[in-house]
Amino acid sequence: ALERTFSILKPDATRRNLTGAINAIIEKAGLRIVAQKRIHMTRGQAETFYGVHKDRPFFGELVEFMTSAPVVVQVLEGENAIAKYREVMGATNPANAAPGTIRKEFALSVGENSAHGSDAAETAAQEIAQFFAGNEIVG
Ligand code: CMP
Repeated sequence: ALERTFSILKPDATRRNLTGAINAIIEKAGLRIVAQKRIHMTRGQAETFYGVHKDRPFFGELVEFMTSAPVVVQVLEGENAIAKYREVMGATNPANAAPGTIRKEFALSVGENSAHGSDAAETAAQEIAQFFAGNEIVG
């Protein structure tokens, strides 16, 4: 089915000027970038976004990192976009990511892992709505 997923190009990617290189991988995979903006996340936005992880030991570090530099938030559209983007990103830990994936090519560590993608349809809708108004998404 035609789906939309939510993506973040993380601070380690913006710092190293890698957003275009990552977008090239996204587009080569057949995903269309139907919304995109560069923002500096507030602590509140990061805490809300990662609320599901609030009791994890890495939560504080995750919020620090995600607010440490600009990010690029995106909506990606395509056939099976949610699963496809997870494939294109590769495993959360770059040590386990397959060749050619964003995280294998660019990620520095499990925390500084260059990209986020939604894990399911419900979270995709929720994550998109946190960062984009309907009229900012142009398919
Ligand atoms: P993401 O897909 O953005 O969703 C949750 C994030 O938590 C995940 O990517 C990782 O970047 C981060 N994360 C997971 N495990 C750890 C860890 N052990 N230390 C730091 N960050 C982590």
